[in-house]
Amino acid sequence: MDKNSPIGIFDSGVGGTSIWKEVVKLLPFEHTIYLADSINAPYGDKSTDDIIALSIKNVEKLLSLKCKIIIVACNTATTNAISVLRNKYDIPIIGIEPAIKPAALQTNSKSIGILATKGTLSSALFSKTTKEFTKDINVVEIIGEGLVTLIEKGNLDGPEMMALLKKHIQPMIDANVDYLVLGCSHYPYIIPQLKMILPDNVKIIDSGEAVAKQTKTILQSLDLLREETSAPTLQFYTNAKTRTLEFLLKEYSKIITIEKKDF
Ligand code: SIN
Repeated sequence: MDKNSPIGIFDSGVGGTSIWKEVVKLLPFEHTIYLADSINAPYGDKSTDDIIALSIKNVEKLLSLKCKIIIVACNTATTNAISVLRNKYDIPIIGIEPAIKPAALQTNSKSIGILATKGTLSSALFSKTTKEFTKDINVVEIIGEGLVTLIEKGNLDGPEMMALLKKHIQPMIDANVDYLVLGCSHYPYIIPQLKMILPDNVKIIDSGEAVAKQTKTILQSLDLLREETSAPTLQFYTNAKTRTLEFLLKEYSKIITIEKKDF
């Protein structure tokens, strides 16, 4: 494995760019290749077998592009496919799980909310983690029905988004949650909208920074961190329209490339 090889990242669509942003903040000299499988989004309503098959397809593509490590920047793909991927491939594979543990450790009201896809909330990995860390805590699990589809369209703050969020968040407000765990990599893009609806005391947690730190730790331990400090190549491939990626990544437009590609 070559230190100069890229970090590969995939998601069901554009949401994993929230993780990519944390990765480039922490590892600014690493080359990265991001696959947005938007043509198949959302993964959250698909069967486990389909999520596994799509995840394998994405990993194969990133391996063909010579990636040295793969980040599964999708909660649904992680909770349903990570063990299959780790058994199948030798390359290090990092996943993203909802940050239930920190929320459970810090809650004062002993009530926390989790917003995630149906695929994540119904996975065995999610129920194992929840059981382990939330013994005396009320956990309000809500399926973020419809949110990924709107975010994929770049529709972050229209009336449709606000109406959906109000519906999803009300049961959490009723249950007096003081932490909201974002269990989908698309959701960090609607934090401003969530803040408009949630009471001021509710803290929102996502997992992006933790995934970036974990990536750095693993690359360090394998002696795979890039040593050169020349500007890295930062490539994005989508199998749908490039428009939403361009919108979400506009502050990086001078240093990244975004291309439509079939994969
Ligand atoms: C989805 O594709 O349904 C959402 C992706 C995620 O769970 O992070």
